[in-house]
Amino acid sequence: MLQAPRGTKDIYSPEIIKWQHIENKFKECAELYGYSEIRTPIFEDVNIFKRAVGETTDIVQKEMYVFKDKKDRTFALRPENTASIVRSYIQNKLVDNQYSTLPGGITRLFYIGPMFRYERPQSGRSRQFHQLGVELIGLDEPQADIEMISLIKDFFCSIKVYYQLELSSVGCELCRDKYRDELINYATKGKDSLCELCSERLKKNPLRILDCKVNGCKDFLNSSPEIIDYLCDKCRYHLDVVKSYVEKRKINFKINPRLVRGLDYYTRTVFEFKSDRLGSQDALAAGGRYNNLIEQFKGEPTPSVGFAAGIERLVLASQINEEIQSRISIYISHIDEECFEYVCDLSEELRQSCIKKGLALRVVQEIRKEPLKISRILSVASKYKFHFVIFIGTKEMKDNKVSVKNLSSGEQINLDRAIWIDKLIEIIV
Ligand code: HAM
Repeated sequence: MLQAPRGTKDIYSPEIIKWQHIENKFKECAELYGYSEIRTPIFEDVNIFKRAVGETTDIVQKEMYVFKDKKDRTFALRPENTASIVRSYIQNKLVDNQYSTLPGGITRLFYIGPMFRYERPQSGRSRQFHQLGVELIGLDEPQADIEMISLIKDFFCSIKVYYQLELSSVGCELCRDKYRDELINYATKGKDSLCELCSERLKKNPLRILDCKVNGCKDFLNSSPEIIDYLCDKCRYHLDVVKSYVEKRKINFKINPRLVRGLDYYTRTVFEFKSDRLGSQDALAAGGRYNNLIEQFKGEPTPSVGFAAGIERLVLASQINEEIQSRISIYISHIDEECFEYVCDLSEELRQSCIKKGLALRVVQEIRKEPLKISRILSVASKYKFHFVIFIGTKEMKDNKVSVKNLSSGEQINLDRAIWIDKLIEIIV
């Protein structure tokens, strides 16, 4: 049998209802905070990710889907979206875009879409996965980091996701240089405990050893120096302001001095929102500040901060109920063949009213001409979880009536054709 590729899956009803609900709530929340949507291509020049995410990261070394096009150009399916957004921000001069950028140059963007990483699939980890996220471009103040955390908190509350926030800082170039030397000192002493890859990392990008998943390395690095003890005054102040905000808002958080991100572009604030309902893949959302990335892409130096959350993981962790979120659905059918046209007209009238009045209903007409018996219509309607059934026989048609049955209460009413839609809406809305 033909199968979807390993690590990917089809998403359809009823699960998709939860996805749609989560995406809608995220959109509402991001717009509430003044963010506007951006959609970037799902593939980009591979160098965009190499340069942003970092040549020595697992994402770039092991996880990217890289391919050549017919003109021998090398592209990658995007493993994340921050790099693409930075590319787009510079290319499209979004700093001057009046819809996403306020005077003074703060650009607020949000996105939803698929990302691709060649990882070992397991619950909460797939090869095509979906992220929603935001980027706030153009402010160095901790208030921007605070806005990020506040937005995630409000969004998670709206979809009933419970979390613990882990917060840290990876400092700036100043503090990181000092820390790097200390780490190299420490790691060189215990070089034999490091895996082969980490010995390589130690030469090329020593901070990456902190991201190693090999047990021997992890144990050895458990007592390594912590960046948080090496922060310069400005970075320390930045972290303290963010920390005092989460304390004031009583957000469930802890400082995790060993929080390691799998991407190289971070400076200062890094954070992860974790769930205890997810097993080993417990990061619901993650992000931080990236003050040097735009400059690295040859843009004006522009401090920025952002986050992304994995929708698959939000679906697993969210306590919202799928049924409650689904639209009111109505099944319209004829019970005598000569009523078919009458039923087509009713469906058309009802759908036009929904469009005019902005009503979100699901109006499904039985479009096979062969009439069904009432008992059959009712059993189909209950199997497919319709809320209301409208059925029309010769009697209804002659009397200019519309029969409506409420499937949850069992109540049945006969409405006058002239006012049936207003009455129906009164009942269901
Ligand atoms: P990330 O930590 O690589 O950060 O990914 C963010 C979130 O995406 C994770 O916390 C997780 O929920 C989800 N995720 C990552 N990989 C997978 C996977 N294989 N399967 C399912 N879900 C996954 C970033 O991507 C950064 N771009 C975040 C950011 C935005 N930083 C600043 N701005």
